[in-house]
Amino acid sequence: MTSTDTPDLECTNLCKEFGKVRAVDNVSFEIPKGSFFSILGPSGCGKTTLMRMIAGFEDPTSGNIDIKGKSVLNTPPNKRNVKMVFQHLALFPMMNVYENIAYGLRCIGMDKAQIDQKVRDVLDRIALPDVGNREIHQLSGGQKQRIAIARCMVLDPDVLLLDEPLGALDLKLREAMKIELKLLQHQFNTTFIYITHDQSEALVMSDHVAIMNEGRFEQIGKPEELYHAPRTAFVAGFVGDSNRWSGKVTGLQDGVAKVTTDAGLTMLCQKQDGRDVREGQSVTIYVRPEFITASRSKGQDTQTSDLNAIHGKVDSVLFNGANSRVLVRGPSGELIEADVVVTGSTDDLHAGDEVRLNWSDQQTMCFAT
Ligand SMILES: Nc1ncnc2c1ncn2[C@@H]1O[C@H](COP(=O)(O)OP(=O)(O)O)[C@@H](O)[C@H]1O
Ligand SMILES: [Mg+2]
Repeated sequence: MTSTDTPDLECTNLCKEFGKVRAVDNVSFEIPKGSFFSILGPSGCGKTTLMRMIAGFEDPTSGNIDIKGKSVLNTPPNKRNVKMVFQHLALFPMMNVYENIAYGLRCIGMDKAQIDQKVRDVLDRIALPDVGNREIHQLSGGQKQRIAIARCMVLDPDVLLLDEPLGALDLKLREAMKIELKLLQHQFNTTFIYITHDQSEALVMSDHVAIMNEGRFEQIGKPEELYHAPRTAFVAGFVGDSNRWSGKVTGLQDGVAKVTTDAGLTMLCQKQDGRDVREGQSVTIYVRPEFITASRSKGQDTQTSDLNAIHGKVDSVLFNGANSRVLVRGPSGELIEADVVVTGSTDDLHAGDEVRLNWSDQQTMCFAT
């Protein structure tokens, strides 16, 4: 492997046990140079433990960690070229912005003129050139966030670790910071590893996302791959909205599985990578709302070879401009969320209307349970 394609970070069969708890369970991945990589999973799935091992605050029970092609297992945290931004940012409140950023450079013994140049440079890059003399308490939440990142980036780390850094911000600021973090990562062209339990943060910002569950990586992929081609039921259910049904495979033909749901509905699912099912197996079906169209029931209904169709009654209309949806009460009493078809006479659905729901077998994701 040449130095240009050596990954910034590579973890191999990484495990961490705390007594009987396996917090990180055989995790392997590599992160290409200069990319934005997120680890997304529910609270308690092992994200922080994984980060702490990469930073060197925790020793793995087994496995290896390479940074720029060299194992760091025996390298203490302060000697690893990795920096970490914590949820509460940990800026020094008694120092001004300049001193906060300069601190790490003083610790490595850089001379004053060089420090001055570096601090100015990084403040320019985060588009806050004039805040050097401000006290930390005089900054907005978003500015503090940028200073916390600048304080790490001034040390030229190989990898920047961010552990739920938007967690303490209010919703509106989080939305703005999502985009800003992505722009900052581009600006510095340094590998960012971002951990979060918030799927919209991970999907919006990342080049690649790993979905973590109970200590394991279930799938690593681009956001659109995780969304459109989940390989496990957990990923399908955790990433994005979906309607779900449970049932049994009652037929298999030409790569299409016929599933009879617990309530007796028939659904067709195209077979896809990682979703092997056998006849007689119990399965869960996931269908995203945007692939289901709700239209007025008219005359005879047909279930064609590649189209799923069921009838229901509109429970409520969820108006949200172009993203409007309907909640439809299905034949077995379940609520199904679907997009409204906005052509013809179907754009004025009301509660109580009879509707037909249609979706393609290709958009029907089926996993063994
Ligand atoms: N120092 C520790 N001692 C014992 N158990 C721990 C320790 N740190 C984390 N754990 C356990 O490891 C699991 C993963 O925790 P953590 O990595 O903090 O998850 P996350 O960051 O995804 O919320 C949890 O069950 C947690 O209780
Ligand atoms: Mg955590």
